[in-house]
Amino acid sequence: MNEGEVAVAGSPDRVFVFDTTLRDGEQSPGFGLNQEAKLEMARQLERLGVDVLEAGFPISSPGDFEACRLIAREIRECSITALARAVREDIDAVWSAIREAEDPQIHIVLSVSDIHIQRKLGLTRSEVIRRGVEAVAYARSLCNKVEYSPEDAGRADPDYLVETVEAMLDAGATCINIPDTTGYCLPSEFGALIARVLRGVRHPERAVFSVHCHDDLGLATANTLAGVMAGARRVECTVNGIGERAGNTSLEEVVMLLRVRQASLGLETAVDTTQLVPTSRLLSRLTGVAVQPNKAIVGANAFAHASGIHQDGVLKDRLNYEIMRPEDVGLDSNRIVLTARSGRHAFRYRLAALGLELSEDRFAVAWDRFLRLADTRAEVSDSELMELASQIG
Ligand code: KIV
Ligand code: ZN
Repeated sequence: MNEGEVAVAGSPDRVFVFDTTLRDGEQSPGFGLNQEAKLEMARQLERLGVDVLEAGFPISSPGDFEACRLIAREIRECSITALARAVREDIDAVWSAIREAEDPQIHIVLSVSDIHIQRKLGLTRSEVIRRGVEAVAYARSLCNKVEYSPEDAGRADPDYLVETVEAMLDAGATCINIPDTTGYCLPSEFGALIARVLRGVRHPERAVFSVHCHDDLGLATANTLAGVMAGARRVECTVNGIGERAGNTSLEEVVMLLRVRQASLGLETAVDTTQLVPTSRLLSRLTGVAVQPNKAIVGANAFAHASGIHQDGVLKDRLNYEIMRPEDVGLDSNRIVLTARSGRHAFRYRLAALGLELSEDRFAVAWDRFLRLADTRAEVSDSELMELASQIG
């Protein structure tokens, strides 16, 4: 807890983590995974400690059906779900794929915004509710857990959204997931929408309320936070924030946000945060897509210090510039990177780490040569430092 922060009284409330890396993430361009890769990733997600793992969209292809089946058979520590549109064929495919899971859940999606109802489905509002109710009731006849996602809820009429949610709860949905499918909402709007749904339905305790945000305006994590602050207790997210278009809420961001600011928020997850970086790296290896260096939590620069002022501060006390410990996300340590913006303190520190103790005279010469070298490249490596020191004699 930082100075001046006011702690929330009582023990933290649990937020459940629903990972959709292998469904919403995997369906985006460049992130396709074959069955073996999906299974390898699922094993790592189980190690990470996610509560619900969305394995795929079984009706989409025989390969994805099989991947979902393999995951449902092997992964025992997470609830396993897969996606269906609100039609029997999809629901049957999901159920055949995941029925052997320890804790299966059928996930149904059907639009709720007028834009989608009119321009995509060509139906009326009441026809959509009827279709959703039939799908939920049918899915419940197969499986004890059914999640209903009213697609594009972020742009829907809130009154109609509440009516829809109420109907799906009556039909037997055990989880209601509110998606900001197009990443359109402001955090204040999204938080208010969740609060409105929770206030508007009779007996909201009948179901788990979840949020699912997209990052089109860079607000997915902020909107997810607004959702849990308004009372949602499940968050849908993906490793490295991959997903449709600009991606989904990044799992590592939400998990560390709830952990680092637990004293203020009073919320916690069951994720083993030391598995965050290994999970991110595995996904990059399997997909061949690296994360941007400045990505929060898992980017190569997330715990790197390069400028003289920051390096001096962090070498005096990590608290000066680090709000979380690299060890907590699965890194060995922070990185003191030597560049033309570095300072003497960091230069001396890196030399010492390489076992190079120089007299003050030799240090001054080395520093001078270092600056000239650093101006010619992005970063000065350890081997270049060793060579530079050896030339001074
Ligand atoms: O973005 C979305 O609306 C979805 C649903 C299936 C939850 O991915
Ligand atoms: Zn989505």
